[in-house]
Amino acid sequence: MARTHVVGVVGSLRDDSYARRALSRALNAAEESGATTDLLDLREYDLSVFDPDREDPVDATRLTEAIEAGDAVVLATPVYHGSYSSPLKLALDYCGFDEFEDTTVGLLAVAGGGFPVTALEHLRSVCRALNAWVLPHQAAIPRARNAFENGALVDEDIADRVDTLGERAVEFAHIEPDPPCPESLENVGAHIQPDR
Ligand SMILES: Cc1cc2nc3c(=O)[nH]c(=O)nc-3n(C[C@H](O)[C@H](O)[C@H](O)COP(=O)(O)O)c2cc1C
Repeated sequence: MARTHVVGVVGSLRDDSYARRALSRALNAAEESGATTDLLDLREYDLSVFDPDREDPVDATRLTEAIEAGDAVVLATPVYHGSYSSPLKLALDYCGFDEFEDTTVGLLAVAGGGFPVTALEHLRSVCRALNAWVLPHQAAIPRARNAFENGALVDEDIADRVDTLGERAVEFAHIEPDPPCPESLENVGAHIQPDR
């Protein structure tokens, strides 16, 4: 039987991104649980601002194919103005039901301040609109600058939550889907794109 494949997408383009470091840790935990992993770094994709009237750029197809290959997907975002980041929003707009329907999703957010929770809630809503199965467990890293030392998480509780996120992504990657989320049934936008 093929090994479970977990794909991570990080919504920060910053070179020393804390979100990327935390996602990398979560994916290491997923590998320890027996999965193969792929961390998708949006700096490596040339994505123009999403325009439904224009053909998708080649890199968008490369990105969506890599996401669709995941049995589970972990989305990691920095908090921008109380929500998730613009690079991640752009990546998600190129996606739809093909990539996320009935897919297990784990969520991770990193904040400069003390309240990363709203970004996680907003991402959870997006995932429900695409009928993904979002893990109840999520990882939030407040005051990111103090949470890392020499690139590694210093708070054991937070590190444990990040590891658990990777482990749960593997554990629930093949969960039987629930009845569709009501939000997803009303997400006509994602269905009416002729080429998606
Ligand atoms: C445009 C912008 C908006 C931000 N808004 C918030 C915010 O609302 N709340 C917060 O706690 N931190 C905010 N931050 C700080 C980032 O969440 C913080 O620097 C985080 O570490 C960035 O993630 P990264 O290290 O993965 O790039 C903001 C940063 C930027 C660049």
